Amino acid sequence: MLQAIRYNQGHLEILDQLQLPFVEKYIPIQNSEDGWEAIKSMKVRGAPAIAIVAMLALCSELFALDAAGKIPTAPADAQDYINKKLAYLLTSRPTAVNLSDAARKLEVITAESAARPGSTGQDVTKAFIGAAEEMLGKDLQDNQQIGHNGSEWIMKHAAKPNTPNVAVLTHCNTGSLATSGYGTALGVIRSLSSQNVLRHAYCTETRPYNQGSRLTAFELVHDKIPATLITDSMAAALLADSSVGVNAIVVGADRVAANGDTANKIGTYGLAVLAKHHGVKFLVAAPLTTIDLATKSGEDIVIEQRPSNEVTSIKGPRQQDVASGSAALDLETVCTAAPGINVWNPAFDITPANLIDGIITEKGVVEKGSDGQFHMDVLFN
Ligand code: MRU
Repeated sequence: MLQAIRYNQGHLEILDQLQLPFVEKYIPIQNSEDGWEAIKSMKVRGAPAIAIVAMLALCSELFALDAAGKIPTAPADAQDYINKKLAYLLTSRPTAVNLSDAARKLEVITAESAARPGSTGQDVTKAFIGAAEEMLGKDLQDNQQIGHNGSEWIMKHAAKPNTPNVAVLTHCNTGSLATSGYGTALGVIRSLSSQNVLRHAYCTETRPYNQGSRLTAFELVHDKIPATLITDSMAAALLADSSVGVNAIVVGADRVAANGDTANKIGTYGLAVLAKHHGVKFLVAAPLTTIDLATKSGEDIVIEQRPSNEVTSIKGPRQQDVASGSAALDLETVCTAAPGINVWNPAFDITPANLIDGIITEKGVVEKGSDGQFHMDVLFN
């Protein structure tokens, strides 16, 4: 399986996603500054992967500090050091809640350790490191369960009678590269495929940053899952095509509010509107770490604005170098828009809960109650 994050006892490496799918290169992340930069510049993306890389980047820094004999002796000083670094890491990207969720949980764990009688600065950093390392394995397990729950739901509620398999459309990247492994929405597709009930997967290109054509397509080809790439503007025609017969659209999430409103990659909302029009099931797949009960509705979610050059240019190798199988691929940036044009580049949009049929989590698939509303708090009771 593809691995976006490699970690072993303070040694953290990430697959540089800016160079995928053309160049597979791991880069070291040695401290929180490296982690912040990798997240901000999109070398790592996807809500769970961002959170895990941020926490493990701080682990690497703490390991190095320990090796240099520089861990603060007083527990309160070690706690303060960690909290300042967490606050800094939180400034990297605002929309995905997994990052702040992870930071809050680890703040509590370090505070508990610091408050224990006889505790030392070493104990506090060890408590932080242990809990951060656990997040990596937990995310993988959760994703496998999400895949299982989602595939079961789809076969029960979205498959056509007398048809043993389903076609699924997905958006952005939600696979191994966006998580610690397996993926959320792409994990559901993986699960369907492994049970031989996936007729076909469709992935959108996901403009402007092409997470679909660069990352999801890469994962689908890598795992030999039957799949086809479409541009975002082809989704309506695909859903209208009865010979294709898309059964469900499954997407990931960066933040699910308490009422089920969901922030995800720009273009998700449009797909949900199309799904409603065509009577196709629309599902969000996300771990509990993406569900934010403190945010009442989508109106309260901050949407990150990205630089205009992500819309006006594109980065890749020369087509003839790819076709000739050249080993050394130089990536070039080419302009695709009229110089001087204004650009609007929100990285995410909000899909209103009323357009969503189910929210697939590791604890099960949440559907609307008899009042027609999602009650996401049931997951935490
Ligand atoms: O801007 P990105 O690439 O970080 O956006 C990623 C997405 O929107 C994903 O769909 C989301 O984070 C879920 S990843 C399991």
